Amino acid sequence: MIVNNNREQLNIVIIGHVDHGKSTILGRLLADTDALPDGKLEFVKSYCEKNSKTFEYAFLLDALKEEQSQGITIDAARCFFKTKKRDYLIFDAPGHFEFIKNMITGASRADAAIIVIDALEGIKENTKRHGYLLSLLGIENICVAVNKMDLVDYSHSVYNNIISDYNNFLNSIGINNVTYIPLSARNGDNITKKSINMPWYNGIAIIDIIESWQKINESSNIPFRFSVQDIYKFTSNNDDRRILAGTIDYGNINKNDKVVFYPSNTHSVISSIEYFPFQIEKAGQKESVGFTIADPFYISEGELMVKEDEFPKPFVSKKFLTNIFWMEKNPLLLNKSYNAKIGNKKTNIRITEIHKIIDATDPECIINKDKLERYDIGICVVETTKPVAFDTIRIAKNTSRFVIIDKYHIAGCGIIVEKLDEEIFTIEKEIERKNEIYIKSNKFEKNINQQNNKSIIITGSFAEKQLEIANLLEKNLIKSGKNAYFLSLKSIAYEYTKNNITDTDCDAEIKKLGEISHILNDAGVLFITSIYNLDSYEQEILKTTNYPYEMFVIGIEDTIQSDVKYNIKFNYKQNSDEIVNKIIKYLNA
Ligand code: GTP
Ligand code: MG
Repeated sequence: MIVNNNREQLNIVIIGHVDHGKSTILGRLLADTDALPDGKLEFVKSYCEKNSKTFEYAFLLDALKEEQSQGITIDAARCFFKTKKRDYLIFDAPGHFEFIKNMITGASRADAAIIVIDALEGIKENTKRHGYLLSLLGIENICVAVNKMDLVDYSHSVYNNIISDYNNFLNSIGINNVTYIPLSARNGDNITKKSINMPWYNGIAIIDIIESWQKINESSNIPFRFSVQDIYKFTSNNDDRRILAGTIDYGNINKNDKVVFYPSNTHSVISSIEYFPFQIEKAGQKESVGFTIADPFYISEGELMVKEDEFPKPFVSKKFLTNIFWMEKNPLLLNKSYNAKIGNKKTNIRITEIHKIIDATDPECIINKDKLERYDIGICVVETTKPVAFDTIRIAKNTSRFVIIDKYHIAGCGIIVEKLDEEIFTIEKEIERKNEIYIKSNKFEKNINQQNNKSIIITGSFAEKQLEIANLLEKNLIKSGKNAYFLSLKSIAYEYTKNNITDTDCDAEIKKLGEISHILNDAGVLFITSIYNLDSYEQEILKTTNYPYEMFVIGIEDTIQSDVKYNIKFNYKQNSDEIVNKIIKYLNA
């Protein structure tokens, strides 16, 4: 691929119902704008003749697949070509929906779209569904090409009927500024010059429409956004840097800028910008870089870093309104838990309400059902187990998208439209819930107010060391006559044991652990557990589920969770016996 970085590149997606002529239009555009390598057109034509095949412009795309010359590259669904004005990347989106997935995940981005309609067949299901998806994706430049006009004798009235119907449809879904053009891609009508076959058409040729499109720079007003994708931890030679790696979604940043991480609300300062193997002073949009920060705070994967003095700030919530497009054969079910990725944040989500499902072929028709079937678009309330940071689509595209993962692949994708007020998981509510459903053991009354009714959480980013301490603590407490019980999160989080529990989202298990700790405390047992990198949200959950019993949080650290409240902290290099003795002293005090 030859990419000239000084030239503007406009990305266009060609969509439409199967066989309506997308590839032919593209082949024609390449041929008629002289974008093809010398002799290619003649070669394909004579190849067809020799093999008694009717020549198709769409064949040019196949013939060019291996072609790397003259700035044209074609692969499965993408085609590069250039005019004097600028470069183009065209996605020839086949009948399926892969391209929507790519656009929502940010893998590809279209600045403009051409919707192709066969003049003879007219508007089909996908013609409408695609229109609807364009409105979801917020694509501004749209051209509707009524193709195969030769098959309807270049009839003005056929053309008028189609565009008036389709225009009504587009208006009803909020798409207004659309350009319409009649084409015959096969015959080359209105491709690069105005056709003499349709004197009634007052507009310009399609290539001129394409050249007139303005690339809209979405990002110019959006504040800095960086979603932490990976954390690299160095441990050798006293190098204890942690590098937060990822790609800058929007904006610019300089060394020494003040930053905030959401949802943890951790404030720090950029100490270095790593651009391997160099360090740089500033970085900007689309650059893949690493950051180190001035404070030893623990930052987890998926946190959204923004600049302290910039607005608007991202939203932080566990509940939001979305548009979801479902692509999987199995339907998306209400209240079922799914894995999702919002930015780089992996989390569990549930669809808790479906406001409406739109039959893309008829937006007037709202279907009432409690699941999203394949290719449905639903306006749904999504709830996550932990708070996540995001923007809404009106503010920024990259940071308002998410994908839903079902059995290791992307099954649906969505856009966050609005933050909703979440229900707060309060101690009062939890007590109310408990009183309703809990049947208290007879043992409970006897054990309340015994000094054993407490739980101890060993946390930090040194799993092995934490386990060692928790085990030793249990052993020593039992030796001194206490009724202590150690249970690691690992023991109950079956699904996660294979991968070790690190940063995986296991909130349901945390809650389970809180319940177990509560029951054991009820029974007069001192409860000990070890959790890798407890965060403030998990701390709150445990505290709430364990109420009214006391909970102690012991940190084994080299970094600090800025928002977690520790009772005591130890350096991870300290001897385990010493640590355990100090914990016991602290508990007895
Ligand atoms: P898929 O990729 O399968 O979705 O199809 P497509 O939309 O890319 O359609 P393609 O360009 O392959 O064209 C489908 C058929 O329509 C081919 O046989 C083309 O020759 C024919 N066709 C395309 N444009 C025209 C046209 O303007 N007039 C006529 N008569 N036939 C056309
Ligand atoms: Mg095609």
